[in-house]
Amino acid sequence: MGVVGVVFQASLLLFAAYSSLADSWRYDGIGVAPGPTVIPTRGGVWPKPLKRTEEDGYLVVRPSAFKFNVNGHDCDLLQSTFSRYYGVMLSANRRRTRMSRNKSWRKDANFLGYLDSLNVELSTPCEFMPHAAMEESYDLHIAKDGSWLSSKSVWGILRGLETFVQTVVLSPDGAALTVKVSETQDSPRYKHRGLLLDTSRHYLPVRSILRTLDAMEASKLNVFHWHIVDDQSFPYQSAAFPELSNKGAYHPTTHIYSRENIRKIIEHARLRGIRVIPEFDTPGHTRSWGLGIEGLLTPCYGGSNPRDLTPDGSYGPIDPSKPENYQFLMKFFEEVKQLFPEQYVHLGGDEVSFECWKSNPDINDFMANNNLTGDYAGLEEYYIQKLVDMVKTLNISDIVWQEVFDNGVRVPPDTVVQVWIPNGSQNEMSQITAKGYRVLLSSCWYLDALSSGGDWKKYYACDPENFPGTPEQKELVMGGEACMWGEVVDWTNLESRVWPRACAAAEKLWSSPAAFSKKTSRSHPLPWYRSSNLDNYDMDEVSARLEEHRCRLVQRGIQAQPPNGAGFCPGERW
Ligand SMILES: *[C@@H]1O[C@H](CO)[C@@H](O)[C@H](O)[C@H]1NC(C)=O
Ligand SMILES: *[C@@H]1O[C@H](CO)[C@@H](O)[C@H](O)[C@H]1NC(C)=O
Ligand SMILES: *[C@@H]1O[C@H](CO)[C@@H](O)[C@H](O)[C@H]1NC(C)=O
Ligand SMILES: *[C@@H]1O[C@H](CO)[C@@H](O)[C@H](O)[C@H]1NC(C)=O
Repeated sequence: MGVVGVVFQASLLLFAAYSSLADSWRYDGIGVAPGPTVIPTRGGVWPKPLKRTEEDGYLVVRPSAFKFNVNGHDCDLLQSTFSRYYGVMLSANRRRTRMSRNKSWRKDANFLGYLDSLNVELSTPCEFMPHAAMEESYDLHIAKDGSWLSSKSVWGILRGLETFVQTVVLSPDGAALTVKVSETQDSPRYKHRGLLLDTSRHYLPVRSILRTLDAMEASKLNVFHWHIVDDQSFPYQSAAFPELSNKGAYHPTTHIYSRENIRKIIEHARLRGIRVIPEFDTPGHTRSWGLGIEGLLTPCYGGSNPRDLTPDGSYGPIDPSKPENYQFLMKFFEEVKQLFPEQYVHLGGDEVSFECWKSNPDINDFMANNNLTGDYAGLEEYYIQKLVDMVKTLNISDIVWQEVFDNGVRVPPDTVVQVWIPNGSQNEMSQITAKGYRVLLSSCWYLDALSSGGDWKKYYACDPENFPGTPEQKELVMGGEACMWGEVVDWTNLESRVWPRACAAAEKLWSSPAAFSKKTSRSHPLPWYRSSNLDNYDMDEVSARLEEHRCRLVQRGIQAQPPNGAGFCPGERW
């Protein structure tokens, strides 16, 4: 996933396609009009709800009087969500101006009354953990004679509360918190809307991860894909195999995730309806594992004379020929299953280099004995199949990177394949779904591929169903993930690099095409990076909403960068 070559080529492509978009705010020789490039909306919801109608009439919210009324089922999770969102409203309320003293809204014809309570109607008991099939639809009704939020699931209530709070905004004169009379029926396009963080290339403090989860909730992202270990470092602290992080982490006590840290992250995510899917990528990307577990990795052999080959001191992928390595993996994943409540674990499987296996005489002997002579993809298949069968006995479902499919590895039918290689990714989506596998798209949402400008529109141009295929194939698209690889990202620049750029993916994953009035249909899918894919959207409307959403993130303490060019956040003060 981190292949510099591929990413570099992809960014060149993106640069060519997008430089004109990004340049629109540049100096054009005759000067630029004063004022912001894009004026933010007021109460524009991000991601865009499926159906929403608004009226000019509004209600005033007085936080001192306001409360959430529970009409249906209740639980701790719901109560903690209320206090979290109440806090968001209070902090917006603190930015009122002195105009609030003379209650200017009373003279406004559009002022229809006060909103002192929101009735929350949950029709089924609260679920404890978010899961792959969770229901997130909700209805939100704001009217002067009573306002309510209803859903069949606590997760839908969470999403609806986010929408509600996004629509409670300061009036233009700053006198009061207002909310428009409105009707919202909302439902996500995809069930899997993820963000990947890489904590191996750089360690990310727990605090950074928690803040990322806060920002994910604000954008209705619901999967934290935790690429927790890789070649460079092994910060995951295993109880059964403490040497893994003792030797493999950048530092054995300061740069690790203890069980306590991990539980804290999972709990913070649970309260926000976010699943935590850990990735333990094997058999490649495992150099740091080798420091703690002797004999795990394949020793590579050097020398040009085949009779005179010796180990050259370097190591390749996990050695698939050793039974004890599978015993280790079984015990390792048993512990993972105990710690992470999630049904899915990402097993990686990307970028397995065959060079080291080719060089090693023991591996080649093993292959000869197993009828695999010369078939290194077959050896990878042998490994992955054993691994997948093993984790199945632990009741773990697996996600793998696309190479596992590309190399023809037979995997269980419920395996989910994640597409990441930009070149040919539309074809790849077709092929994987034609074979009946479910699929996640990431290739067009690599947040490490920087280009000039706010550069979010290139992510917005991507659509997970923009590939040739039947409706049945499109049904197999579970969603996608924005990926923040960590080679040049640590706690200092994580937030401004991810936000609001990941919000583009968040909206494409939540909001169905039906949520947008403007639509054009094409008989042939265009490459995902083409700016003409944006023709389906009113990009002035989208940009204005994102401008506001970025300010919203900043108000909630997330250091999100400006998305569109020059401007300021209304009400900002220091
Ligand atoms: C409202 O009050 C502010 C200061 O408290 C004052 O400057 C302003 O003129 C008043 N506006 C109106 C419309 O009465
Ligand atoms: C090895 O492969 C050959 C040809 O594909 C096949 O006839 C033979 O039965 C295989 N042997 C084993 C042990 O699988
Ligand atoms: C396997 O996991 C699923 C989902 O978490 C759960 O519903 C089921 O009861 C589990 N099965 C076993 C045998 O533990
Ligand atoms: C993309 O893949 C095609 C066919 O597999 C190949 O011909 C082309 O060179 C690749 N382009 C890039 C930029 O890697």
